[in-house]
Amino acid sequence: MKKVLVIGSNGLVGGAVADALAESHEVVRASRSEDERVDISDPASVRELFERVGPLDAVVCCAGVVPFKPIEELTWEDYRAGFENKVLGQISLVTEGLSQVRDGGSFTFITGILAREPIATGAAASAVNGALESFVMAAATELPRGVRINAVSPSVLSEADGYHPFFPGYPHVPAAEVARAYVRSVDGVETGKTFRV
Ligand SMILES: NC(=O)c1ccc[n+]([C@@H]2O[C@H](COP(=O)([O-])OP(=O)(O)OC[C@H]3O[C@@H](n4cnc5c(N)ncnc54)[C@H](OP(=O)(O)O)[C@@H]3O)[C@@H](O)[C@H]2O)c1
Repeated sequence: MKKVLVIGSNGLVGGAVADALAESHEVVRASRSEDERVDISDPASVRELFERVGPLDAVVCCAGVVPFKPIEELTWEDYRAGFENKVLGQISLVTEGLSQVRDGGSFTFITGILAREPIATGAAASAVNGALESFVMAAATELPRGVRINAVSPSVLSEADGYHPFFPGYPHVPAAEVARAYVRSVDGVETGKTFRV
């Protein structure tokens, strides 16, 4: 049994992931409103979380907010907010938490299909998800002690009705299938991978 931290565990993706991992692991559920409180856009909050719940075998993130607007309406502030929240928020899990991850442990980030396919209003999300997938590819070559890192990159979720009109003709993926990709990342042997779901 592994001790697994799931950030964003009360969300659509995170809820399915935490439940799937809890079938065989000890799961610590965290978010801004869960029992274990953390705000990934604040590195001090991330550091304090790791001090409270570490050491861990796996760190899983299912959180990260990006603004969706037509490109002429996206401001520098919008891009900064997306990068500070979803990119730097997840990278802070490595900078603030690596010392609390046991040998052979792992990190699993959330990105999304917009890293490789565009939609109207999705320019900031494409930049953010693309940056994270490149980080994962590179970080995997340098993480010490056999620590692995992967990303899960889903298309729009079947359960995310509100998003469907923005993803015309895109495949819908059930949250349970996204959760399986996280289980593969945590319990498998791969590193530097982006699991496209
Ligand atoms: N839904 C889809 O179809 C889809 C497809 C591809 C990729 N994604 C990506 O998957 C991720 C999750 O999406 P979702 O649909 O599951 O969203 P959601 O249902 O809104 O859940 C978001 C989760 O993240 C937590 N959270 C948000 N900001 C946080 C912060 N600053 N610090 C810590 N926790 C935070 C929320 O809890 P609190 O409010 O309690 O903090 C909640 O648990 C997003 O990055 C999204 O871009 C989603």
